Amino acid sequence: MSLIPQILRSLKHLPPFPVVAQRALTLVNQPEVSIEELVEVVKFDPGITANILRISNSAYFGLRREIHSLHQALLLLGTQELLKIIIASGATRLFANGTPGYFQEHHGLWRHSISCALMADLLARELAATERTTAFTAGLLHDIGKIVLSLYVEQKFSQIMAVVEKRGLPFQQAEKLVLGISHAEVGGEMARIWDFPNRLRLVIHYHHLDRPEAFSDDMVLLIYLADLLVMMFGQDLGNEGLAYDGFPQVLHHFNLRERDLERLLMHFGSSWGEAKVFFGLVGDGHAVQRAHRG
Ligand SMILES: [Fe+2]
Ligand SMILES: [Fe+2]
Repeated sequence: MSLIPQILRSLKHLPPFPVVAQRALTLVNQPEVSIEELVEVVKFDPGITANILRISNSAYFGLRREIHSLHQALLLLGTQELLKIIIASGATRLFANGTPGYFQEHHGLWRHSISCALMADLLARELAATERTTAFTAGLLHDIGKIVLSLYVEQKFSQIMAVVEKRGLPFQQAEKLVLGISHAEVGGEMARIWDFPNRLRLVIHYHHLDRPEAFSDDMVLLIYLADLLVMMFGQDLGNEGLAYDGFPQVLHHFNLRERDLERLLMHFGSSWGEAKVFFGLVGDGHAVQRAHRG
């Protein structure tokens, strides 16, 4: 029996997308954002300013002066950096529960999402893309479908793995065969319900490049590549790695050579330690991620 009706029904009980992150999304890549607009955004979450200050003062940004206020953070980091912090900080509530269908570590999905956000951000810089905040946000939210689908993946895990092993398919394709829908499609539906900007919805829906439509947008390809690079950086692929089929095509599309990727992975490696301040937003940031699936 198909699980699709049941999965779609469970989307009706989806919690609202955190209002702070929602409002911050509307300011991404806007040419000029005033301090008043930012104050207006963060006032919906009393705890968020503390998080913003903690992250702004972390080694990740390497500022020489200590930041004591939102205003100062805006001046020293700039609007778009600040928006990334607000979105990451605001979205944590969604990632608070484990997704055992995909990750053994309780906060595995958060860790993966932050890693992907940072990699997408670096990649956007490497490619001189103007939309670095969009890249960061899309990296952060690309796998949100897993929040809902984890339960179903857990139920059907042995069946999914049997398909992976017998047919040699990547995990997310086996997931779609067994459940009738993939985490990317569920994520796309969540993005529609939460009224995300269209572009972001597109990236979430197509980030595994399993449809030709995926190739119509640079940001989809950038997130696919960031997802792959994060795993190349040293996370355990096992049977569950991503499909590499689109890799050569995407490299060609961006005119990237192996040398460029090596440099990128080196940059990622050096900012990795400092970036742990983001992992701390949802608690345990020290456990090792294992068993990434899809
Ligand atoms: Fe995915
Ligand atoms: Fe992913």
